[in-house]
Amino acid sequence: MLHSELPEDLETAAELLKQGKLVAVPTETVYGLAADACNKSAVNNIFAAKGRPSDHPLIVHLHASSALHDWAQDIPAEAFALADAFWPGPLTLLLKKADHVDSVVTGGLDTIGLRVPAHPVLLKLLASHQLAVAAPSANPYKQLSPTSAQQVMETMAGKLDAVLDGGDCEFGLESTIVSLVDGTIQVLRAGPISSDQLEKVLGQKVQSPLQHQVKVSGNVAAHYQPKTSLRCVSATQLDELLTGTKLKLAVLSFSNLSFNAQPYWHTTMPTNAQDYGRVLYKQLYQADQSGAELILLELPPAGYEWAAVQNRLQRAAYQED
Ligand code: TXA
Ligand code: MG
Repeated sequence: MLHSELPEDLETAAELLKQGKLVAVPTETVYGLAADACNKSAVNNIFAAKGRPSDHPLIVHLHASSALHDWAQDIPAEAFALADAFWPGPLTLLLKKADHVDSVVTGGLDTIGLRVPAHPVLLKLLASHQLAVAAPSANPYKQLSPTSAQQVMETMAGKLDAVLDGGDCEFGLESTIVSLVDGTIQVLRAGPISSDQLEKVLGQKVQSPLQHQVKVSGNVAAHYQPKTSLRCVSATQLDELLTGTKLKLAVLSFSNLSFNAQPYWHTTMPTNAQDYGRVLYKQLYQADQSGAELILLELPPAGYEWAAVQNRLQRAAYQED
């Protein structure tokens, strides 16, 4: 474990990356499993470490929007407008890739995902070493994304060369992904930046994230999954299940319920969407570790500010028939 407040540890992290090693790094969204984006074999190792199919593209993290031209071409004006408004920050732009970018980074696609992360430690590391890192979330494929260095250590032990501890992630949910290729603007993954915020900057409607054909691993029906089964239920269903089952239950309630039967493990979730997003993966991870046999989550409300949370919950609870 490397500590971001120690200058020598930050140097070590940069050196490891330059040597083609894998380093988990903090971002403002979730921890990323980073490799030098210019080093093909290092990037290849990311797929092996995560157990992720090699045709699932990675996001490249840049130190500033001035580096956009090194990675993308035919960049529309709207991309610069969004970069100016939201970078550094939790927004990924999909653009046409520059010709020299190796297709190992883009999963064979001719588009590339780019973002400037807002975590000061990562930003400093990238800027002071002129590095760009390819980094998916630092979790085994399909499992919960980590929001703390500890969680990375526990779930990815032995699969990476170092973890740079930068504290708990500010947002706790992955970046919003916006595609700006082929003249259309589409949100491919809901995230901390809402469609509403994007539309205000662009002065036009953006297409919603619900239906699209692009290969995005966050778009696989079963994703962000705890190991223990998760069911998302209403308050009434929660009450019925609590009294009606003999299973050890972990409960993430939304309202302050008074239980007829005491759950095996319980937490009350925040009622504000942003606070909820920040702790969701962490609490699901705790519930998973608790030894419960089933996780019950009382659904938060619908509404646009809950879009990113609702999207993750749907995938986290998805069961193949
Ligand atoms: O907040 C985040 O975005 C975090 C942090 C570490 O930056 N990263 C992250 O990466 O969530 P990952 O790989 O777990 O999810 C990135 C998503 C994937 O679903 C991937 O398929 C999609 O972005 N993606 C990346 N490049 C793409 C492309 N060219 N076309 C379509 N989807 C792309
Ligand atoms: Mg991921």
